[in-house]
Amino acid sequence: MRVLFVASECFPLIKTGGLADVVGALPRALNAQGVDVTVFLPGFPPVLKGLKKKKVIGKTFALGSGTAKLMEGETDSGLKIIALDAPELFKFEGNPYQNPDGTDRDGNGLRYAAFSRVAADLAIGRYGVSAFDVVHAHDWQAGLVSAYLSTEMAPVPASVLTLHNLAFQGLFPKMLMPDIGLPADYFAKDNLEYWDKISFLKAGIVHSHHVTTVSPSYALEIQTNEGGMGFGGLLRSRGNALSGILNGIDTEVWNPETDPDIAANFSRTKLSAKAKNKAQLQKDMGLKVSKNTPLFAVISRLTGQKGLDLLADAVPQITALGGQLMVLGSGDSAIESQFLASAKANPDSVACFIGYDEPLAHRVQAAADAIMIPSRFEPCGLTQLCAMRYGTIPVVGRVGGLNDTVIDANPAALAKNCATGVQFSPIDPHMLASAINRTFELYAAPKTWRGMAQNCMAQDVSWKKSAQQYANLYARLKG
Ligand code: ADP
Ligand code: GLC
Repeated sequence: MRVLFVASECFPLIKTGGLADVVGALPRALNAQGVDVTVFLPGFPPVLKGLKKKKVIGKTFALGSGTAKLMEGETDSGLKIIALDAPELFKFEGNPYQNPDGTDRDGNGLRYAAFSRVAADLAIGRYGVSAFDVVHAHDWQAGLVSAYLSTEMAPVPASVLTLHNLAFQGLFPKMLMPDIGLPADYFAKDNLEYWDKISFLKAGIVHSHHVTTVSPSYALEIQTNEGGMGFGGLLRSRGNALSGILNGIDTEVWNPETDPDIAANFSRTKLSAKAKNKAQLQKDMGLKVSKNTPLFAVISRLTGQKGLDLLADAVPQITALGGQLMVLGSGDSAIESQFLASAKANPDSVACFIGYDEPLAHRVQAAADAIMIPSRFEPCGLTQLCAMRYGTIPVVGRVGGLNDTVIDANPAALAKNCATGVQFSPIDPHMLASAINRTFELYAAPKTWRGMAQNCMAQDVSWKKSAQQYANLYARLKG
């Protein structure tokens, strides 16, 4: 079984969020189960630079108004990559989709249409690489792959689209239609038209043989009018070909027993060493060094999706109850400013690092007592899984993948000793405040807290089970 992943991010080559983690880890879990995966990526400078054993496949060809070639290579961990080396489209630094001021980059429509066109041709076997059995596209950047395949006369590979976040729909003006090389009559309501625009994501939902999303709960939520973000009806109509498969994490990258970035390694049975990480982070961030002060953390895009505007308002509650908060993230400037102001006003108890810092994310996960994820919606969420691996208790909105991965510390779960976190719903200031109160109460009972941390660390958050589900799906589609 040969599968071509098509995605715009892949850890460790290029990452803005969880998509990269999934595309970096799932193929290796699939390879371990006998599925041969190659990942097709845009040739951004860090991608081309990061590839090992690089070699050019075939000849240079014309693409858009420039030229392109395919570059084959692998990551340090041996994942097979083919990159589209097209300088005119991908030679820029920074975020793949946005300018530094948060606006969309010019040319995204044609950029990712060209990427998807080449992906479809590659999957069919047009570039001298043998044809693939399945092409597995991710998010709107690869949404057009199955639309291009649908125009072919000859048999094509089976297509899967994974929705990582329905809020990003790949919307572009209809005047691009002639340039993206799809039949004009595709601009229709039952096809890729969405409120008089082209939606790359809708194209993928309509044309892929199967659509998956990243948790069973999110698969249900997106089939409602509220959670479907405009695509609820369409997703209901595809209900028979839609499933939710829970994300995992790379348990080698996220391993408290071997993590080279943290102050002290620890394990479920040697949990006391976690305290050294807390003391070190408190010291490094200028917080008061205190063993028994509950340390809350955020590692996230600072956006409304993540509910972090609500948390920014709740900082006074956390500090009044004697807690500390460490924020690592970037995003909406209003949320950033509010956390920065809290840190300035309470340097002993609030620290804030605005930016993206992978090693710091590991240090924070190792140090914190609880991670705050008050998301309004969350397709899966990976930070709660990383947290659980590090014995850090997730405090989460009861939505999407957070619903599927965290067991709330209600009286029954506590009695059975299976609780792993705190969930709240609906996602509003009142319920967040009550979840924070509950977290303080749990922390005040050290045996209970320790038991929850150990329950977290006992969970299997690896890709093993879910990779098997993807492998079964591919086999079924290939027929
Ligand atoms: P999303 O993809 O919606 O942003 P996920 O929870 O799926 O959310 O994945 C986020 C990933 O990005 C996690 O691996 C998390 O550790 C990482 N991350 C988010 N913000 C930062 C940051 N500021 N610095 C380092 N890592 C971050
Ligand atoms: C998206 C979602 C997040 C998910 C990630 C990986 O960015 O917001 O919930 O974990 O994709 O699938």
